[in-house]
Amino acid sequence: METPTMKPDTVLILDYGSQYTHLITRRIRSLNVFSLVISGTSSLKSITSYNPRVVILSGGPHSVHALDAPSFPDGFMEWAESNGVHVLGICYGLQLIVQKLGGVVVEGESKEYGKMEIEVKGKSEIFGSGSGGEKQMVWMSHGDEAVKLPEGFEVVAQSAQGAVAALENRKKKIYGLQYHPEVTHSPKGMETLRHFLFDVCGVSADWKMEDLMEEEIKVINQTVASDEHVICALSGGVDSTVAATLVHKAIGDRLHCIFVDNGLLRYKEQERVMDTFERDLHLPVTCVDASERFLSELKGVVDPETKRKIIGKEFINIFDQFAQELEKKHGKKPAFLVQGTLYPDVIESCPPPGTDRTHSHTIKSHHNVGGLPKDMKLKLIEPLKLLFKDEVRELGRILNVPVGFLKRHPFPGPGLAVRVLGDVTQGNALEVLRQVDEIFIQSIRDAGLYDSIWQAFAVFLPVRSVGVQGDKRTHSHVVALRAVTSQDGMTADWFNFEHKFLDDVSRKICNSVQGVNRVVQDITSKPPSTIEWE
Ligand code: XMP
Repeated sequence: METPTMKPDTVLILDYGSQYTHLITRRIRSLNVFSLVISGTSSLKSITSYNPRVVILSGGPHSVHALDAPSFPDGFMEWAESNGVHVLGICYGLQLIVQKLGGVVVEGESKEYGKMEIEVKGKSEIFGSGSGGEKQMVWMSHGDEAVKLPEGFEVVAQSAQGAVAALENRKKKIYGLQYHPEVTHSPKGMETLRHFLFDVCGVSADWKMEDLMEEEIKVINQTVASDEHVICALSGGVDSTVAATLVHKAIGDRLHCIFVDNGLLRYKEQERVMDTFERDLHLPVTCVDASERFLSELKGVVDPETKRKIIGKEFINIFDQFAQELEKKHGKKPAFLVQGTLYPDVIESCPPPGTDRTHSHTIKSHHNVGGLPKDMKLKLIEPLKLLFKDEVRELGRILNVPVGFLKRHPFPGPGLAVRVLGDVTQGNALEVLRQVDEIFIQSIRDAGLYDSIWQAFAVFLPVRSVGVQGDKRTHSHVVALRAVTSQDGMTADWFNFEHKFLDDVSRKICNSVQGVNRVVQDITSKPPSTIEWE
């Protein structure tokens, strides 16, 4: 599906691999200006196709002297100048400007990493007139430094160590900051970015989620012909729900959703999500109860990878069957598949040039249940592919997805299969786990902690230990409680509950769940462990 037509006021970021690149995008979007990241080595044709008002060259881990140092394409600066496009280089971006336009960058004698004071010199556009002499703390992270500027450029700020901290060529509308204005360790950084975009570049703050939504709806309607059908597999998570709701708003009941109960769902999950889909969102959803099919395939299987493969294969079979039924009913194969792909997935799958980062699909593959049948030849609709997670939540709010639903913790596709260690069909494991998990999550909600935790869940351990309950010896199961804080799930730390909370929750579990006499808490971060157990 095509990217919606860009508004004139797009800030395009050329990525050279800095860990902060996406933060720049987020900061700019938070100012209601549309911003997008593309690879720093994109062609001129690709850059100009976005029709940007401003281009920012990001930081990056390279030295401009490296043989394979990534750079903007030939003709870029000339194009920017003749089209009145402002260019801002940040860190490596600044050095690239200096080097490419005839200045000199050398390896600095003393490197600048971390907090540093800078002083604004005389009159400058990027800091605003009247800011001469002003001092501010900024966040630096560079080894090389610019020692001779290209013709027409001027130093407009210097670090306490005497290095160039900011430069500009007002005539050509080219600017550079050696530090990172986008990080909170540069307390005045946002003010500088805001001033730069609005006062220097004249960008207008007219990017709103409502506009993006309308634009996406238009594109979906242009893409899907009036007699074509679209399918979407709902997981019960935020992304697929918001994507489906948006597509439904565009094409109505030519969207057909499927929700599969694989027998590995949480306590009352099927009822709860179906309620949201049908009552709150009026989505056309077919709920397939396939628990028996899944559980009989999983009987006796202990190896986590094999469990995942079985679940993936079974899911595809069900999906395939669903598509065939639709074909029978409508006399036509469904033509499109909706997926809740987010912007970070898109960017991560094309890592910036010169970085050692591999294709992120390899990292993420274990997070997915499995691909869909290739021979179905479905074209993709990915209406969230320009959005970050919190923007998806905002879009969801506009689409009237209940706020409680939008804040749900992530839940793995293979469900409780990755939370019951060993054979999921052993004894009453799934039922025990559902009850324990429900008590744990409800206690977290009651304590007002749900939104401070990134993900919380219980784990069923296939070991028994001796206990004593009501004067009787028991030989029952151990369950583990896991709660973590995280930004993106890639790294995580365990959540530190108060003693009383743990005390209460452990008592509640042992008193009300048959077959459990011991509760432990997982106190490992990721790495070395993962968030799930398996
Ligand atoms: P790990 O275990 O890798 O999990 O630390 C990180 C995040 O991903 C979720 N997760 C999954 N999500 N399908 C999913 O949709 C999966 O197979 C899967 N495995 C893990 C996990 O819950 C956590 O949020």
